[in-house]
Amino acid sequence: MKKTLIINGSPRKKGDTATLIAELKKHLTGEVVEISAYRSNIRPCVDCRQCQKTNMCVVRDDMDLIYADDFDAVVMAYPVYYATAPGPIWSLLSRFQCYHEYLKTSKFPPVREKKAGLILVAGGSGNEMKATPAAYISCKMMNAHGLDEHMVISSKTDEVPAREDQETLAQLKELAAWLES
Ligand SMILES: Cc1cc2nc3c(=O)[nH]c(=O)nc-3n(C[C@H](O)[C@H](O)[C@H](O)COP(=O)(O)O)c2cc1C
Repeated sequence: MKKTLIINGSPRKKGDTATLIAELKKHLTGEVVEISAYRSNIRPCVDCRQCQKTNMCVVRDDMDLIYADDFDAVVMAYPVYYATAPGPIWSLLSRFQCYHEYLKTSKFPPVREKKAGLILVAGGSGNEMKATPAAYISCKMMNAHGLDEHMVISSKTDEVPAREDQETLAQLKELAAWLES
């Protein structure tokens, strides 16, 4: 059975990101673990540099769920904030700094290869792609592949909420199929 990690970067419990995650979950048949960047206990990297000696983060919090690395796929899901990802996503991402050696050499970190997907929502349109770097870096650090071809984006949510964006909702079925293929 496949296991999918969903990293939810929206503070809204019933917002657009939450709607699309709920729809994706309907199509996933395997195990799903969702981590809220806003509500879980994941502290930002404080550059203590202990990981330079051990290649592992010495801070113990909910990031351990991600470090456990027992997923076959990962989905980053967040709203566009000021043409980038919300702060808690960057905060979570900073905790991959323990793989810094791999960043420097562009080699993949010592975690299993997995599939990647991205769900983005935006009130307007035009800034969506500027918000993807956080997802790209996160997926690189999680050794997750396929982001380019597996992005589901609901724009102009100020005008049409994601729950009414039929085209985007339909794409989530395809995303689920890819994640579990
Ligand atoms: C602080 C903040 C900054 C935002 N910046 C942008 C932006 O730069 N571009 C955009 O299209 N929408 C922006 N939005 C709108 C959100 O992306 C939009 O409302 C989204 O659908 C909210 O998703 P959620 O309900 O999953 O949280 C911003 C919203 C907030 C609260």
